Amino acid sequence: MGGRALLAALWITSHCLVAMCREPATTAASVPRDTTGEERDFSGIESKFSLRKPEQPYEDTCFLVPGQENSMTQCRFNHSSKTFVVIHGWTVIPLYESWIAKLVKALYKTEPDSNVIIVDWLDRASQHYTISASNTELVGKDVAKFVNWIEEQFAYSLSNVHLLGYSLGAHVAGIAGKLANKKISRITGLDPAGPNFEYANETRRLSPDDAAFVDVVHTYTRGSPDRSIGIQKPVGHIDIYPNGGSFQPGCKVTETLRRLAEKGFQGFQEADQLLKCSHERSIHLFIDSLMHEEKPIMAYRCKSKEAFEKGLCLSCRKNRCNNLGYKVNKVRTKRSATMYLKTGERAPYKVFHYQVKIHFFAKENMTKTNQDFLISLYGTEGESKDMPVTLPEVSTNQTFSFLIYTAVDIGDLLIVRLEWKKDSIFNLKDWWSTPEVAIQRVRVKSGETQKKLVFCSRNGISHLKKGEGVAEFVRCLGKNAIKENS
Ligand SMILES: *[C@@H]1O[C@H](CO)[C@@H](O)[C@H](O)[C@H]1NC(C)=O
Ligand SMILES: *[C@@H]1O[C@H](CO)[C@@H](O)[C@H](O)[C@H]1NC(C)=O
Ligand SMILES: *[C@@H]1O[C@H](CO)[C@@H](O)[C@H](O)[C@H]1NC(C)=O
Ligand SMILES: *[C@@H]1O[C@H](CO)[C@@H](O)[C@H](O)[C@H]1NC(C)=O
Repeated sequence: MGGRALLAALWITSHCLVAMCREPATTAASVPRDTTGEERDFSGIESKFSLRKPEQPYEDTCFLVPGQENSMTQCRFNHSSKTFVVIHGWTVIPLYESWIAKLVKALYKTEPDSNVIIVDWLDRASQHYTISASNTELVGKDVAKFVNWIEEQFAYSLSNVHLLGYSLGAHVAGIAGKLANKKISRITGLDPAGPNFEYANETRRLSPDDAAFVDVVHTYTRGSPDRSIGIQKPVGHIDIYPNGGSFQPGCKVTETLRRLAEKGFQGFQEADQLLKCSHERSIHLFIDSLMHEEKPIMAYRCKSKEAFEKGLCLSCRKNRCNNLGYKVNKVRTKRSATMYLKTGERAPYKVFHYQVKIHFFAKENMTKTNQDFLISLYGTEGESKDMPVTLPEVSTNQTFSFLIYTAVDIGDLLIVRLEWKKDSIFNLKDWWSTPEVAIQRVRVKSGETQKKLVFCSRNGISHLKKGEGVAEFVRCLGKNAIKENS
């Protein structure tokens, strides 16, 4: 409720701001315009194409103008290397958000000879959302005219072109891809916008047909379809839903409210960023993949969030896992591959995923729901202590599987420790007789290394009492070490 009210307040504020802050577009003045007449195919193009340079990632210093061949030479477009076209989304005020320069820098870090182009459609993007949403069609046409021009005029192959679109920009990229003369190599959709697109005909939104390869990251899909900021349905060849896709860690509204309280109206811009925190996380995950190429963030194919939470989807067989971001393996299947992963709260976002399987023995029949445990992993390179896990159910003589993850690279896993926490609310039944289970083995599968290991109790069997003590498991020796059929 609080979040909704805040959003409504910001919606109103943002509209005052558009009216108040609107300066005659700051970047437009320096742009050479094509004035050669109505019949020219390029005359209707309103979007601007800024070729940024690695040394000046923050500034628009040179614009490529469709129809003006010398603009390509002036801007030193490199015809023998690849081209990234970055397309922003809906904005409150017609100014670039700070992620643009960060993405430009990260792209040049990985591909120093490439051409990184920013599509400036700020005027059309800073209207009422519904108007900006329908403007995606016009901007998509502009981008298509631009890429068709470099393809026709300079025989520049569109197999060198990678469009990156954020929010509404993802649908702009899709429309451009549909209208391009040849297939564009790749489109990356960064949390494509949901409202007005969730149920739209695929001719109007990003879809797998729009490029040879379409990868999509969904980071803010909370709420009912068509109300959610990010589109919920898969729209690419690979659709990745970090942390389930609905909301991202470190993006709580309480943090926003605190900052607003601290900074007052000046906090607006920052608060605005925080409100879009989950939405924008899609971009920062992509930037992270460029900045830390050596440590790819892995995502796993899974049929549901729930199955992923149980740790059931950490397989890499038959392309079931992939890298998130720039170094994705371009695997195309007929149906979109829906993939999941966990991440940390801030960059570097990579975490290591483990499936843990435990069989609880007990003499007496017992079923308990929502039980809290702490699990610690110790390895050759590091350790990750007291990770909280809530098991939806613990019952006698049954095996349970769950997912845990940690940002720490612990290397080869050596020891697993388990603690069964007391209920936070006093429970008379548990006080009367403390529940107890016996555990012989703990099975652990690592997503990142694909290794399966079995851990044995040092005493053959460990007794674990709720609210008391710790059970410790070490790598099994001898025949116990051989992994069993799961
Ligand atoms: C253009 O890119 C190629 C690599 O694709 C590189 O070898 C060359 O030096 C670049 N040219 C200029 C002028 O930067
Ligand atoms: C989408 O629009 C096209 C062209 O207007 C139409 O041929 C097609 O049937 C529509 N598809 C769906 C699923 O409505
Ligand atoms: C659970 O399994 C153990 C060993 O197989 C057995 O001794 C025990 O009676 C079982 N407990 C229940 C409640 O059936
Ligand atoms: C435990 O419950 C199962 C099924 O409800 C029953 O078959 C079994 O006899 C019970 N075991 C004990 C030891 O009470």
